[in-house]
Amino acid sequence: MNDGLKSKIIAAGQAHLLRYLEELTPEEERSFVEQLEAVDWEQIPQLAKDYVMTRPEITIPEDLSPARFFPLIPGDDRSAELYRAARAKGKELLENGKVCCLTVAGGQGTRLGFDGPKGTYPIGPVSGRTLFEYFAGAVARTSEKYGKQLNWYIMTSPINREATESFFKAKNYFGLPQESVFFFTQGTMPAFGTDGKLLLASKNSLALSPDGHGGTLLALRKSGALAKMVADGNEYISYFQVDNPLVPVADPLFIGLHALENSEMSAIMLSKTNSREKLGNFCVSGGRTMIIEYSDLPEELAEKRNADGSLAFVAGSPAIHVLSRSFVEKLTSGGTLRLPWHRADKKIPCLNAAGEAVVPAEPNGVKLESFIFDALPLAEKVMILEGDRAEVFAPTKNATGVDSAESCRMMISSRNARRLAAAGVEIPAGKDGAVDAVIEISPFEVIDDADAAALVKETGLKKILPGSMVAL
Ligand code: UD1
Repeated sequence: MNDGLKSKIIAAGQAHLLRYLEELTPEEERSFVEQLEAVDWEQIPQLAKDYVMTRPEITIPEDLSPARFFPLIPGDDRSAELYRAARAKGKELLENGKVCCLTVAGGQGTRLGFDGPKGTYPIGPVSGRTLFEYFAGAVARTSEKYGKQLNWYIMTSPINREATESFFKAKNYFGLPQESVFFFTQGTMPAFGTDGKLLLASKNSLALSPDGHGGTLLALRKSGALAKMVADGNEYISYFQVDNPLVPVADPLFIGLHALENSEMSAIMLSKTNSREKLGNFCVSGGRTMIIEYSDLPEELAEKRNADGSLAFVAGSPAIHVLSRSFVEKLTSGGTLRLPWHRADKKIPCLNAAGEAVVPAEPNGVKLESFIFDALPLAEKVMILEGDRAEVFAPTKNATGVDSAESCRMMISSRNARRLAAAGVEIPAGKDGAVDAVIEISPFEVIDDADAAALVKETGLKKILPGSMVAL
């Protein structure tokens, strides 16, 4: 290891990392040096001081108010006209290849308790098709509908990159042209012990973890994804999370409104079902839009009501965005981007002081992540559009209960039932009024009501039998 690197590490107060250097083989030392060179050592003491040794205070601005949004149903003729124009604009942008989509899939999915990249989780209620296959189907059908191949960017972490890519290869990219699927890897952050010292995972490795979905922005530049977008003429990025199979991968209304409103970063909002629903909250302060996480919104604001009893801070984030490529280019132009860090106290397997590997039972350290929605206040213009929850949002976060694989499968089936009913198919209802069948429709065939109607016409489907499991 060269002296320059050593002195940077020592100056950052992290000399303990060099303790086992003499025991390493040349090969082990080489990979360790590679890791250490990627760390911004000048930043480390400040991060330890601001985020680890002291617990960062969440300051809620005094002037915080709920963010305004375009409602789901336009309120008057002028808005209806704007929505019509936006749909047409979105369609034109899709037809001209100005749009690409982006899935963030670098998270570790610990809550789901699934071993493997979350996108490979079998979510199809009848077929067991995976989350990735849902998006692949929607990408394929959207491309077909608009007569232009939609490029699909998938962000992984260094931990799940290989498994993700191998999965796509094994599935032959679900029939998508291989050159339209672009994988890129997000950055990592070293984890801290509670004493501000970085943790070692082994004698020649830091305990590293993905740097949060805020890492997407810089990773887009560093990976060459932005350059590919320029080469392919993609100007708008339709962004969504790997956990939500209902998401429209590229919604013409949302994209068109983003473009017509000259927004730099846009967001879909959903009306929260209750004051403590676990969604980020859209707020405004000093004329800037921001998201305050559910865990950070003070009780009195979460509970604040309008005169009619509705929640004042009603707008929750399903993490569906459109970003202008030019905005990402601007934010990352110097090759750096400093979004705020968020602290998470975690159980981090590491070497103890005696050099033994330990798996702690209690949180023993701090991971730092940045969030993509912290780019909202940096945008000159933000557009927020209300989404229809039952149509666009069914996150798979837990194994059972709220926001689980179970609830997600039910919502997939219910949305399909609704689409078929709208196309004239008789749908069986149980005693409680819920659909008495499990219905899956291929995302390669149907991404909206019009596609469902065409499928019904083509197949001559008249009714779904009570208690049946149907895959169309
Ligand atoms: C997230 C949002 C929340 C939103 C909710 C909607 C955060 C902090 N909060 O909550 O505002 O209302 O979704 O479902 O994001 N990811 C990466 N790299 C990382 C970390 C995460 O790619 O380093 C990806 C994950 O793969 C996943 C997404 O980001 O697709 C969300 O991550 P997750 O940690 O599950 O966020 P939530 O707390 O569920």
